[in-house]
Amino acid sequence: MTPAEFRCYLVNRDAEKRVTAEVTTLPLDRLPAGDVLIRVQCSSLNFKDALAASGRPGVAKTYPHVPGIDAAGVVAESRSPQLQVGQEVIVTGYDLGAGVWGGYSEYIRVPAGWVVPLPQGLSLPESMIYGTAGLTAAMSLEALIEQGITPDRGEIVVTGATGGVGSVAVALLAKAGYRVAAVTGKPDAADYLTQLGATTILDREAVNDTSGKPLLAARWAGAVDTVGGNTLATIIRSTERLGCVTASGLVGGIELPLTVMPFILRGVKLVGIDSAEYPLARRIALWNKMAKEWRPEKLELMLTRVVGLSQLAEPIREILAGKIRGRVVVKVES
Ligand SMILES: NC(=O)c1ccc[n+]([C@@H]2O[C@H](COP(=O)([O-])OP(=O)(O)OC[C@H]3O[C@@H](n4cnc5c(N)ncnc54)[C@H](OP(=O)(O)O)[C@@H]3O)[C@@H](O)[C@H]2O)c1
Repeated sequence: MTPAEFRCYLVNRDAEKRVTAEVTTLPLDRLPAGDVLIRVQCSSLNFKDALAASGRPGVAKTYPHVPGIDAAGVVAESRSPQLQVGQEVIVTGYDLGAGVWGGYSEYIRVPAGWVVPLPQGLSLPESMIYGTAGLTAAMSLEALIEQGITPDRGEIVVTGATGGVGSVAVALLAKAGYRVAAVTGKPDAADYLTQLGATTILDREAVNDTSGKPLLAARWAGAVDTVGGNTLATIIRSTERLGCVTASGLVGGIELPLTVMPFILRGVKLVGIDSAEYPLARRIALWNKMAKEWRPEKLELMLTRVVGLSQLAEPIREILAGKIRGRVVVKVES
């Protein structure tokens, strides 16, 4: 039976923009309207969650707010014929944890069109090792494949490689047979990245060219960039003829200091990745690949830690400082 109340991690911002967070209990009618009520078993920590939880502009539209752009759990009530009570499901992205209260909560209520049935081969906690980071990495791999970047074309570079998107990207690419160059700012990360499947480890400075040259020596067949800014610009200028670069992140900046030369002289393709609004049918297909043929041998290698709702403050600080390695799963069900 559905209880009258639920526990959640509630973030408040006052008139002076001071942000506070507490684990609290609220009546179920505080949840938004929606087709499906889900009892959340676990969620995860993404960079975007840390922005919402710390009151940074651009994610949470109003306060009080419950962050958590990811949730995995069991359908508790459903007005959709496609989703049955008791079914295990995943929700990532759309407006979850942004305009709609998110997964750091024992219950979420969402539109049926956001809900992915848990694919066979994946448990609920495993789905949150992937989370939005995993879906984003999988979309990046899918884009490289769609652009004809096969493993024999050469090395693929991954930036922000120890982060959530970066770690999953390294593992998925290695599993698919690509040679992977992992770019990191963490000097002690080589063992971790090698275990994930990277064959080359590079320091961040290796992809931070400041020469101003429109083109650099061609080095990569493809790239999964999670950093943006001058890192992305350097990589595009270093990509081989007809190579493909995917852009998903902005931890290093939102600007893109570049000329058109890589596009018109080398035919380099730049593919934007937006996991939040990725259409449901394609999303379901991709989650099924992530559960089966794309699944890395040791998914748990990327799991850095499991935290409860009351233990979120520290990992939130760490991810904002770029210090988290791999993925943090948030255990919601007590
Ligand atoms: N487009 C989408 O759909 C989508 C989906 C998910 C995430 N994202 C974006 O992708 C990015 C990564 O997200 P995430 O959840 O993977 O975050 P994360 O776990 O914090 O990973 C980010 C990694 O980037 C590196 N990094 C941090 N600050 C940097 C800087 N100033 N310059 C260069 N590298 C830096 C660090 O890795 P190293 O120490 O190994 O370099 C860090 O671990 C974020 O910008 C996020 O908003 C976008």
